[in-house]
Amino acid sequence: MVRLELTLAIIKPHAVKNPVALSYIRNEIKNKFIVVKTKRVSLDKETASNFYKEHMGKFFYNRLVTFMCSGSVDVHVLGGGGAVAGWRRALGPTAALRAQFLQPACLRALFGISDTRNVAHGSDSPASAEREIKFFFPEFSFYDWHHTDEVMFR
Ligand code: PPS
Repeated sequence: MVRLELTLAIIKPHAVKNPVALSYIRNEIKNKFIVVKTKRVSLDKETASNFYKEHMGKFFYNRLVTFMCSGSVDVHVLGGGGAVAGWRRALGPTAALRAQFLQPACLRALFGISDTRNVAHGSDSPASAEREIKFFFPEFSFYDWHHTDEVMFR
């Protein structure tokens, strides 16, 4: 039996600004996942710092936080069988250059520019996904997700 999961995707500012990339990414999402929740937000420094606090102290932390505040981001809660791994697979390796070498058809290979401007974020585990979904959608009901007819009958 396929385990239904939720994951959090954040389409990063450079991809939101690029209509070709955005439309390609949205098609990929629609083909592979149920879009459970979605919103476009502009992150302030405090919110971005808080979201990425596990990376605090790493050499790229300030660059990442500044970049994430440089334009709007699209935040999606994606659902489906193995959604966490599925979205990470669609993204490909974190570093865009590595992605181009190892997985040329993945989103980061196609639209990534650097380690930071790597198209989108994806939760790295179901536990991270739950924490990150609550971060962006505090009102989200995990109980409702697990009990909707749509999910039960898929
Ligand atoms: S890691 O290396 O396992 O911590 O990588 P990952 O969890 O996939 O993502 C780390 C986020 O930091 C951003 N970033 C970098 N990661 C690794 N190396 C370098 N040099 C780097 N520079 C920036 C990267 O874009 C990841 O952001 P998100 O938004 O999570 O994809």
